[in-house]
Amino acid sequence: MKALFLKNYGKPLDVLNLEDVAVPVPGDDEVRVRVHACALNPADWVVCEGLLPGPPPKGIGFDVSGVVDALGEGVTHFQVGDSVFGVPDYMNYTTGGAAEYAILKVFLPVPEGLGMIEAAALPMATETAARTIDLLPLSAGQTVMINGGGTMTGFAAVQIALLRGAHVIASAGETFAGRLRELGAKVTPYGEGMVERVRELAGGSPDFAVHTAQVKGTLPDLVKIVGGDPKRVYSFADRDEENLGVRTAWREGGSLRYDVLGHYAQLAAEGRFSIPVSRAFSLDDWRAAAEISMSKRAHGKIILLPEL
Ligand SMILES: NC(=O)c1ccc[n+]([C@@H]2O[C@H](COP(=O)([O-])OP(=O)(O)OC[C@H]3O[C@@H](n4cnc5c(N)ncnc54)[C@H](OP(=O)(O)O)[C@@H]3O)[C@@H](O)[C@H]2O)c1
Repeated sequence: MKALFLKNYGKPLDVLNLEDVAVPVPGDDEVRVRVHACALNPADWVVCEGLLPGPPPKGIGFDVSGVVDALGEGVTHFQVGDSVFGVPDYMNYTTGGAAEYAILKVFLPVPEGLGMIEAAALPMATETAARTIDLLPLSAGQTVMINGGGTMTGFAAVQIALLRGAHVIASAGETFAGRLRELGAKVTPYGEGMVERVRELAGGSPDFAVHTAQVKGTLPDLVKIVGGDPKRVYSFADRDEENLGVRTAWREGGSLRYDVLGHYAQLAAEGRFSIPVSRAFSLDDWRAAAEISMSKRAHGKIILLPEL
């Protein structure tokens, strides 16, 4: 099968290669899928630079949909031919979702009414956002500012917070500002003057601020936005480089919330939740896809379609 993977750590475009390798065999409680769609994430590019423990080779592609073509021992509720979406076993295999076949350790049925590409866009953004909203923890009636409502984790976080009855103020560029407003968020541009604009929209200090964008240097502004308490700021992205004492995903992972994926997939099938898709590429065109994903201007999920 064709698979995109790296044999040495380094800059993604230098170390990734699309090569023919043996089709992997699923382990216990896993399935193998013929990959229909694989969504790319910023995490893929840090995998290339050594995010995961252990030596290469390592595959990329954390978000997958496909059709089951082999079952591991112990899988009883799925059959060959089922359409599923989920997360590859990226720790135990040397290829991931960016391949013609992938071994999934987390897999759920694609609900009727949800497209395979839209299903592949769900796992990482949805899991990360749900985990964070629970860690805050955010209650109905409280206000949260999502810095980066136009990132896909941010777009998910806005929807999850609104579904839980919170008030949401999002910073976002033009791509998703309209959609975020239609969902019920107050939206303002990021950049110069954001602190004042958000505090005006909130009528003071929001209860929490969540930093999603892969942009350094924003955390001090978010601490000002919440009135000075760094513990009310949670960052998916920064490693608290300014040592402000904000809560970071790196310090406070919590347990992975794959348990919520079925719920949000069903909402997505009903048109009540979505992770927008920007563009799709064939596996052969992976370089173009990677360049857009790494530009920090993806404007939705970038998708690889190995069957093209
Ligand atoms: N800890 C975890 O478990 C975890 C999991 C997933 C992701 N993450 C991290 O979360 C971050 C976001 O990931 P993602 O997949 O959601 O990113 P993404 O969708 O690739 O984000 C790209 C978007 O960021 C927006 N953006 C660019 N500059 C911005 C700025 N200065 N302020 C606000 N928004 C800006 C742009 O949207 P517009 O300009 O159109 O608004 C752009 O389209 C990454 O750092 C990633 O590593 C962490």
